Amino acid sequence: MYMTYSDQIPGPRGYPLLGVLPKFWRDPLGFLSDTVREYGDLVCLRRNRLYLVNHPDHVQHVLRDKRDNYCKNSRRIPAKNEAAPRHQPSNGAGENERRRTLGWKSVALSEGEEWRRQRAMVQPAFSSNHFAPLVNSVTEETKALLVRWKTLADTGHPVDIEREMLGLILSVLVKSLFRDSLDSPEKIETIAKAVRDTHEFFDSRVGSLISIPESIPTPANRRFQSAFKTLTNFIDSAVEERRKNGHCGNDLLGLLLSARDSKSGDGLSPKQVQDELLMLSILGHKTTATALTWTFFLLSQSAAAESRLHHEVVSVLGDRDAAIEDLSKLIYTRQVVDEALRIYPPTWIIGRVAVEDDVIAGYQLPAGATVLLSPYLLHRHTAYWRTPEVFDPDRFAPGTSSGGRRPAYLPFGDGERICMAGNFALIQLSLVLAEVMRSFHLELSAGSPVQPQPRAVLRPRSGLNMLLQSRVHTNARSSR
Ligand code: HEM
Repeated sequence: MYMTYSDQIPGPRGYPLLGVLPKFWRDPLGFLSDTVREYGDLVCLRRNRLYLVNHPDHVQHVLRDKRDNYCKNSRRIPAKNEAAPRHQPSNGAGENERRRTLGWKSVALSEGEEWRRQRAMVQPAFSSNHFAPLVNSVTEETKALLVRWKTLADTGHPVDIEREMLGLILSVLVKSLFRDSLDSPEKIETIAKAVRDTHEFFDSRVGSLISIPESIPTPANRRFQSAFKTLTNFIDSAVEERRKNGHCGNDLLGLLLSARDSKSGDGLSPKQVQDELLMLSILGHKTTATALTWTFFLLSQSAAAESRLHHEVVSVLGDRDAAIEDLSKLIYTRQVVDEALRIYPPTWIIGRVAVEDDVIAGYQLPAGATVLLSPYLLHRHTAYWRTPEVFDPDRFAPGTSSGGRRPAYLPFGDGERICMAGNFALIQLSLVLAEVMRSFHLELSAGSPVQPQPRAVLRPRSGLNMLLQSRVHTNARSSR
């Protein structure tokens, strides 16, 4: 087979030593968009080190067809024929701390057989059998939010919708994870705060060039350690109590406690349960909250879509609470969610590391190279989307995709490591959107330019200030 070597893959020239990094850090979305426009669907960003693929076939190659050759975590590249991952040499004293912080044993960070076993154990917790309590948590928490919004709407002051959504989704997550051990609103608040402080610490470390070891008592480290202790003590005592009662519970903690390996019958270790819970709270929080934030922004730019959505919600739900059966009738609501995830996918970039040399599109890529793929770029690829910049929920009208799979659409990733909780997230998005749209009209506050900022998730750079207008038909009753 004719093969071309990786150094012939086209790509932008960078600066000596630093390569394209300065351009990338200055404006990642602009830089990557210009790069694929100029060099095509396979781009070299750093020779032998860093490549970008922007063609659905190449994405399928990396995430599906040759998935065993593409590892999520460069420090845990599995050796050939090795069941458990081999750790590459540790990089110093901070390593153990980082492992603890990052939930190293969780599904999201494990590899190879270890990942397969854990995913099989954890995935059932997100099956549709367990969605009813989720629906209750979402409706309860959203209604509580809307009661508060009623007073805010009367003041005429703008509200930061990103902050509001982060708060809302955090309460929904905390309830979904620990409901059976949360006996008071104060307890919910304490645990939500501990989760929030843990996330903030985690966020501050991702992408930071220098991380001060946790053992040095800076205010940030102390805040994190106190939050982490609150969280782990709470989990330990919840687990202990449930073991004593002989009843695991029906929340996500309970489902993880009762998970069993189908071959050995073993459960998850206490450390694994803790790591999973920490990682789920991280992965499920900002992703879902920013998806909602962008949805409200996009709706504020399209009166027609907003009015059609409002009409659907009122005619399906009237004044009653949404139930799980309503989701299949909220068809346009779901189209709006799908389209918002297309235009502003929270997970805007995904990376993999090649375990061995591989060939993509006739080019040989070396082992150890990082391959990036970007849902943000693919969702705007003009070969697959007509007028990709336009918000048009009808792209997702029933019957518009062949076989239900769209080659250039992957807000939840693709292949074996696709998001474990995609349906769980979609339910939250549709329900919150329906509840809010039934009761409020949201208008972009004047003088607030909205620009995407690619961080751990794709967020609006300066938050999203909006004015709330209560609709006449409101159902905002408190249920707490
Ligand atoms: C709109 C909301 C969400 C979006 C856009 C999203 C997106 C994604 C994407 C793109 C991946 C794949 C990453 C990769 O291939 O490297 C992923 C993985 C994952 N997500 Fe989500 N996610 C969302 C919500 C959630 C929620 C609510 C949870 C759990 C509470 C969750 C848990 C996970 C886990 C555990 C993985 C790792 C799966 C594995 O490696 O096997 N996500 N998510």
